[in-house]
Amino acid sequence: MTDSKGLPTTGTTTPPPTTGAAGRAQDQTGSPADAAEQSAHAAPEKEPLPEPQSEILPATHWAQLSLDTEAPQDDAGDPDDGDSAFGDAASSTASLSESILEYRNIHGRTFHSNVGVAESWIPNDEQQQESMDIHHHMCTLALGDKLFLAPLKPDIKKVVDIGTGTDFAEQFPGAEVTGTDLSPIQPGWVPPNVRFEIDDANLRWTWHDNTFDYVHLRGLMGSIVDWHALYRDAFRVCKPGGYVEHFENSINMDCDDGSIAPGSPMHQWGKVFWAGGEKFGRTFRVVEDDIQKKCMEEAGFVDITVWEHKCPIGSWPADPRLKTLGQFSRLVLESDAEGYVLYMWNAVMGWSPTEIQVYLAHLRRQVRDDNVHALYRQRVVYGRKP
Ligand SMILES: C[S@@+](CC[C@H](N)C(=O)[O-])C[C@H]1O[C@@H](n2cnc3c(N)ncnc32)[C@H](O)[C@@H]1O
Repeated sequence: MTDSKGLPTTGTTTPPPTTGAAGRAQDQTGSPADAAEQSAHAAPEKEPLPEPQSEILPATHWAQLSLDTEAPQDDAGDPDDGDSAFGDAASSTASLSESILEYRNIHGRTFHSNVGVAESWIPNDEQQQESMDIHHHMCTLALGDKLFLAPLKPDIKKVVDIGTGTDFAEQFPGAEVTGTDLSPIQPGWVPPNVRFEIDDANLRWTWHDNTFDYVHLRGLMGSIVDWHALYRDAFRVCKPGGYVEHFENSINMDCDDGSIAPGSPMHQWGKVFWAGGEKFGRTFRVVEDDIQKKCMEEAGFVDITVWEHKCPIGSWPADPRLKTLGQFSRLVLESDAEGYVLYMWNAVMGWSPTEIQVYLAHLRRQVRDDNVHALYRQRVVYGRKP
């Protein structure tokens, strides 16, 4: 079932597209093809979404709101339990080193060392890695237990995963899989066909033209300075006939029934990230601004296919598959809510650590309320190099 814009309604599931290329979205000369020629999974008209700067409440707002007397449930990974030694923002961001192992430390959480021009907002410590593992599970569940949607042949030879994981290596044992990231946080044991490179995806990619059968990107919102340049590089290093695929979740928590009240913690979450991304020069509006498809077309990819989905947050859906998905997406958040907001809200937006903790206490309460039917939009786009 889809809503008026063709997006799957919550409570239902849109199966991912099966393999097989869709119609051309744009030909090599750049002439736009008829949208109707695209596959059934092609992106429908976008829903209007709020502007980035609108309706942001000041950080002090949350301290003025009373939390009711009922104590929050004591979930494992509850960010309130965190024992981060909060102190002065300016003094804690200082320790940078040439060594990739000498991480930046911000209020007790670690972030990558100096690599290129990268400024990743995601910590690289164990707590965040655990959350990332749950996030990985959530993303594959959303795709119907698939790692990717592009119609890849089983005998592909070379794959690159930007900001990485190891799973492609297991699925394509005959391929050489390169994973890049800013920190050497990958597991010690990996299949023999995997190699890791520490690299900033914002710098011009160093691989030769026509190197890879498949270029995979996932979860890079808020990390990329120039998406157009990144896609030009992806096109250049992709072999003719090869695919690029890009999966992003919206950072914004949304709903279809008004159950997220304006001014509530979930309503504010995405807006603060959006404003922070503007300030920081690395947008979080990848889904909202349709960056994946636009940049793929502009770079020259064809047969562009778009898959869209609404991922529930919490156990409110009646549909068992969506309920499980919602429980995992809530766990992603609960396992490290502090890790997701700390850098952007403190270092970029100037909230104090205490203001962040008070906000998170309000957020947790709302996230656990099954009367709130929250969701994230998810979008996977893949295209072929002619
Ligand atoms: C949200 S995580 C996603 C991880 C994985 N791709 C996934 O979807 O499960 C983002 C990853 O991208 C890495 N990253 C952020 N900025 C990057 C950059 N400029 N170049 C390379 N990797 C980057 C982060 O270190 C982090 O591991």
